[in-house]
Amino acid sequence: MPVTTQQLIKWKQAGRPIVTLTAWDYCYAQILDAAGADIILVGDSLAMVALGYSTTLPVTLDAMLHHTAAVCRGVKRALVVGDLPFLSYQESTSQAIHSAGRVLKETGAGAVKLEGGHGAVVETVARLTAIGIPVMGHVGLTPQSVHQLGYQQQGQTIQEAERIEQEAIALTAAGVFALVLEHIPTALAQKITTQLPIPTIGIGAGNFCDGQVLVTADLLGLSEKLPPFAKSYVNLRQIITQAVQDFTTEINNGQFPH
Ligand code: KIV
Repeated sequence: MPVTTQQLIKWKQAGRPIVTLTAWDYCYAQILDAAGADIILVGDSLAMVALGYSTTLPVTLDAMLHHTAAVCRGVKRALVVGDLPFLSYQESTSQAIHSAGRVLKETGAGAVKLEGGHGAVVETVARLTAIGIPVMGHVGLTPQSVHQLGYQQQGQTIQEAERIEQEAIALTAAGVFALVLEHIPTALAQKITTQLPIPTIGIGAGNFCDGQVLVTADLLGLSEKLPPFAKSYVNLRQIITQAVQDFTTEINNGQFPH
């Protein structure tokens, strides 16, 4: 059965953790879906892991649509969430509706994600959810604001922690179906998770969130550099290098084609 936003809320209530991974193409999407990922996020981190940019800022909405559609073609069960990239929703509510509408109409994704929890973003979320577009929120470290925040842990002071908690509450009231908590203290993530009726999906936010997300390039050991909170479960860079070297050797000594 395809995963729905309502199912995610039931899983939170039942204490069943929500497995979330990112994907950027058909091939990985097929594998992650068949392996049991509940949510597949076409995150704008693909700007860095698949397109070679140094931040997520340069990726365009058209590029995100292209990758999100490819991911959707590989997915049968998981809920696919398409990230709205930098400057595809911040200008105005109508820009956000247009961009989010394109994600749903042109790719087959079931929801969008956007970053931030200040007033204008909350208003945008309220409009999107009012017209039937499911929205996943994202607070704490928000990489689209890297030039303001850097990549360090957020919510370390009492004031910052209170602001993030208030953003989480406001986004929930505006209708987000789930909330990514990125790189914030475990105790803050736990406080937010306990009081919200919707699931929290943590990345660098400790083990009290309702689900966890990793960038798949990090999980598979494809990334050149790992954030401090990520974990690689295999070293695909090494395995691929070995395969290419074996292929080269076999060509050179006439073993392939056999
Ligand atoms: O872009 C992304 O991959 C993300 C996740 C890290 C949550 O936003």
